[in-house]
Order: sequence, then C-alpha cells, then structure tokens
Amino acid sequence: MKISAAILVSAAAAGAASAASSSAWIITSLDSGARANLCQRQIQTCQNNCGGPKSAPMSFCNPDTMAWGCGCADKTPDFETWNWPVPAADCTGSLSTCRDNCNSSSGSGDRNACFTNCASTHKCNTEDAPVSYTNSTDADTPPKYVGPAVSYKGDQLGDLNDGNDRSNLDDDKSSTESTTDTASSAAALRCAALAVAAAVAAVAIAA
Ligand SMILES: *[C@@H]1O[C@H](CO)[C@@H](O)[C@H](O)[C@H]1NC(C)=O
Ligand SMILES: *[C@@H]1O[C@H](CO)[C@@H](O)[C@H](O)[C@H]1NC(C)=O
Repeated sequence: MKISAAILVSAAAAGAASAASSSAWIITSLDSGARANLCQRQIQTCQNNCGGPKSAPMSFCNPDTMAWGCGCADKTPDFETWNWPVPAADCTGSLSTCRDNCNSSSGSGDRNACFTNCASTHKCNTEDAPVSYTNSTDADTPPKYVGPAVSYKGDQLGDLNDGNDRSNLDDDKSSTESTTDTASSAAALRCAALAVAAAVAAVAIAA
C-alpha cells in the first residue's frame, strides 16, 4: 500500500555513504557488511516488537546512512531506545573511538583516567548511554549523527571524546528541546520510536 511502497522506493534510492572520517566517530564508517547486518537486525527488532511485519508499517533502516525508524500499527514500540541495534552500535563505536583517542592524547600519565572517563560517558545499552542521533523520519533523510552529549535519562554527559565537536551544540540548544524543561526533555529523549509512532499515526489519519 502507500506506506510500504514508499519504504521500497526509499530503500532503492538510498544515497551514497559518507566517507569514513579518520578520527571523528560516525556510524557510517562501519564497513558495508556490518552496516547491512545492523540494518537487518534493526528492522527485525522493529517487526518483532510490533508483532510481525504486517504490524510494522514504518520499519526502515538505510544501510548507507544508517537512518532508522520504527512505528507499529497497533502499539507504540516499547523497545528501549538504547537497546535498538543501530543506537547501541553507535554507542559502542563512540566508546571505541573515545578509547583510541586516549592513546593519542599528549600526557600519557592520565591515560587511565581518560579510559575511566570513556567508560563513565559511554554506559552503552543503559539509559545512561549518550543519546544516538541516528533516528530519522524516513529512509531518505540522513540522520543528524551528532547532537548534544546527553543521556537517554536526560543527564548532561562529559566530553564523549569521540572526535566530534559538540561545543556549539551544547551552547546553542535551539536545535533541541529549547522550550521544554529538563524533565520533559528527558521524557522526550526516552524513546525515538515514540516520535516515529506518532508520525505513523499522523500518516494514517491523513491517508
Ligand atoms: C591504545 O593503547 C593500548 C595500551 O597501550 C593498546 O593496547 C591499544 O592497542 C592502543 N590502541 C590504539 C588504537 O592505538
Ligand atoms: C529522533 O528521536 C528524538 C527523540 O524521540 C526526537 O526528538 C527527534 O525528533 C527524532 N528525530 C527525527 C529526525 O525523527
């Protein structure tokens, strides 16, 4: 139908992957096999959570950009955002880059402290993990990839040390929930799938 046709077209028209950056982490730097595998698991997880492929009208993952989204027909996806395959891999990759960057930092004496910082800012697969900005509205729209260093719980995190400059993002909150307070921001960040589910509902109503 309308939605599934759009998803097929989106998958076919996927754009070229960004070139891997040498030092700053970006999930598209994973090799194509890893990206394809992640996307397969992402879509499978969405369909399982919705109750089957027919109950998952919005379930996409673009292996070139890693843009993903999940929206069920009959429920709000209740899989924790930090455990979805793509966001989880985004955290793991950022952690790995963080550790690599500890080696190249000038003072070798505080390398252990640097590793400790990486562990405390990258509690992957928990609500304390840094929010992944890989979710998108549709397969053709590339994700933001980089955003403010906050956890899914809503806490401000320290320097993720993954090569991405977030200083402007953290100062200028206009790109995020500028009008909401901390508590509602935290709630808003809990589950990317919720926003996508709302979008699916809107599409259904409009159709
Ligand atoms: C970082 O240093 C550790 C300890 O010396 C070493 O085991 C690891 O391979 C290094 N990683 C990189 C990317 O250089
Ligand atoms: C990604 O998810 C967050 C949290 O639910 C949401 O605020 C944001 O609008 C989503 N981004 C896109 C592009 O859908």
